[in-house]
Amino acid sequence: NAETRLRDGTRISDLINHETREVKVRALSDPELYELEMERIFGKTWIFLGHETEIPNKGDFITRDMGSDAVIVARDRDGDIHVSLNVCPHRAMKVQTHDAGNTNVHMCIYHGWAFKPNGDFIGAPVEKECMHGHMTPKDQLGLKKARVALYGGLIFATWRIDGPSLEEFFGDAKYYFDTLFLRTKGGLEVLGPPQRFRINANWKTACEQSAADGFHTLTLHRWLAEVGPYAKKPDAEGKGADLSPEMYGCEVWTDQGHALRCIDLDRKIVRLTGKNPAELTAVEKLTALPPPGITPAMVPELLERFDDGQLQLMSWRPPQVGGFFPNGLFEFIYLPQPDGTIVGACALHAYIPKGPNQLEFMNWIFAEKDTPPELKARMLRQSVQMLGTSGMVEMEDSDTWPHQTEVAKGAMAKTITLKYQAKFDKGAPEGWPGPGHVGDGFTKDDTQWAWWKYWHELMTAE
Ligand code: FES
Repeated sequence: NAETRLRDGTRISDLINHETREVKVRALSDPELYELEMERIFGKTWIFLGHETEIPNKGDFITRDMGSDAVIVARDRDGDIHVSLNVCPHRAMKVQTHDAGNTNVHMCIYHGWAFKPNGDFIGAPVEKECMHGHMTPKDQLGLKKARVALYGGLIFATWRIDGPSLEEFFGDAKYYFDTLFLRTKGGLEVLGPPQRFRINANWKTACEQSAADGFHTLTLHRWLAEVGPYAKKPDAEGKGADLSPEMYGCEVWTDQGHALRCIDLDRKIVRLTGKNPAELTAVEKLTALPPPGITPAMVPELLERFDDGQLQLMSWRPPQVGGFFPNGLFEFIYLPQPDGTIVGACALHAYIPKGPNQLEFMNWIFAEKDTPPELKARMLRQSVQMLGTSGMVEMEDSDTWPHQTEVAKGAMAKTITLKYQAKFDKGAPEGWPGPGHVGDGFTKDDTQWAWWKYWHELMTAE
């Protein structure tokens, strides 16, 4: 709770200054805080684990992590998806040691206890002899079960069986998430298994950036305008491309730490159509520049599924980058190509804590099931080149996090603060259709500050 103190007497509440919007640098690396985060954050919130198209068949499973806990995500004989703690209730062996596979019996290799995909105990070898006199009833010998919710095929789970629903946890962000994850009847599908790699960094360095940090794009990813998709030859005045117009739009944040950067498309619409976007309808704009993975022929399906406000959002300032608390990031981005066309990329990341000094970066690449194969191939290539383990953008991002984690341990560094003081002075623009806290203009720090506020709320909750 609010009085929880670290071993040196520091209260968790004192790590954050709500008036000045600062967080002690110590929060980025402290091992004591890490242990508490696993219980108070990853033990309580909904955690993104994967997509149902990773386990399309009955008996399919994948193994994932909910914070520091290993879990099995499995589809049973009825097609339902279950999430169970991957720890044998006999002597704590990891029950399923494969990353993925297909089985209706998850058997522990140590002494052979066996479990169904839903975690129920099936039995043990030479059961009569081995279990004779066993004190725990068999129906209580199953794997510990998490509560599961599917949203647009995304698999989420939580240990809070009676806590808020996933929809309540999304809150106002759901209106925007729907425009990404519920666009077609066929739904999204993964384009292969997720990429995974380890980085020597605290999970929060990646996740507070995922809460829609836009400003770093101008500097850390400046190659985007120098030699990348936004590059152009210097004009008569010697000016090349400028990334700063891409920093404009709306940013949305919620009380649960979810964040979205809704980047303005008007300049791209002008380039593609030669027309003033204000004189085009939402349908005309969506047809000229469909969302990532959508073709002009698929636009009528969007009209069936979304209201006027969401269509306006998708054609004007769609959510392109953002995060779901605590450790998920989405990127549904529009990438200019050398031939003047724009190809979208759809990716989700999760940053899995692996100790106070390490995280596992997982990257899923998506398209709609109905996206034409040729476009899927282009999207896959774009996503791998930009957003994957060898992606130009993510290599840069993941170079900063280890440095932050390392220097945050310094005796003096621990005493200084992270600053989230760039603040929107304008709320939602006129005609903005969506809910939530909204800022209009050049990217600011409000989304990331909301992330830390919810971190603090959970870390100090009763
Ligand atoms: Fe799993 Fe003994 S630890 S059967």
